Amino acid sequence: MKVRVAHLSDPHFGTVKPEIKQALLNAMKDLNPSLIVISGDISQRATYSQFREARAFTKSLAGLPLIAIPGNHDIPLFNLIARLFYPYAGFRSVFKGILQRRLMVNGVQVLALNSTSRFRHIQGDLVISKLKKHLSEMSNEALIRIVTFHHPMACPKHVDVKNLLKGREQVMKILEEKKIDLILGGHIHDPHVALSTEHYKDVKRAAIFSVAGTCLSWRTRADAPNSFHLIDIETENSSRLEIIRYDVDQNFRFQPVGSQKFTKDTEAGWQRA
Ligand SMILES: [Fe+2]
Ligand SMILES: [Fe+2]
Repeated sequence: MKVRVAHLSDPHFGTVKPEIKQALLNAMKDLNPSLIVISGDISQRATYSQFREARAFTKSLAGLPLIAIPGNHDIPLFNLIARLFYPYAGFRSVFKGILQRRLMVNGVQVLALNSTSRFRHIQGDLVISKLKKHLSEMSNEALIRIVTFHHPMACPKHVDVKNLLKGREQVMKILEEKKIDLILGGHIHDPHVALSTEHYKDVKRAAIFSVAGTCLSWRTRADAPNSFHLIDIETENSSRLEIIRYDVDQNFRFQPVGSQKFTKDTEAGWQRA
């Protein structure tokens, strides 16, 4: 059985280039994913108009199963009353009713978690008791288990270590115990794919990190144009997985620019193929 996940991140509606938005819609139509995950920073400043723009975009995705989670930009920054008392009102106004915490497609389950904090803008924070509770609700039937939260567990450049999830060593241990296969994030606008064993020395059973770049915003980093990850998962026999990075080119077309392949061993988890 094949499942194709489009991992989009950090669109930052309010800073979106229209040509790129059209290019991304074209790419989704051509690639026809089984489900789409948007790993946070949906808006630039958490305004209702930016969330409405995001909703119009997701409506154009022709009813594909969707998981979206908030990022630090989806909480009001300057309106302190809103930030303290109803930080997710804008996000919920758009996505309420269409978002589920968990999705299962052909044996692949995705769990959405919220790593943002009204008290912390840059570095995220997962509440451990909530993390454990939500993980315990995952189905035992799932062949591949994916979790997504905005703040990344790993980054390619040392300068971004300050942006990684707070308390990530403990979180890594819990995700390993629950045999999570894939951990999706964003936030740093710098695409990265790695095994957990390449970043955490005590991990025995390797999971895969997919940190996607910004799919739509002009807030890009050097050497990282607008991009997304396409994750092709094969669940029959021994599990295999390929993550293909798509970058936008000068003609406003998303093109594959690199791929990383993995296979799964029941004891040691994932390894590079
Ligand atoms: Fe972002
Ligand atoms: Fe962010």
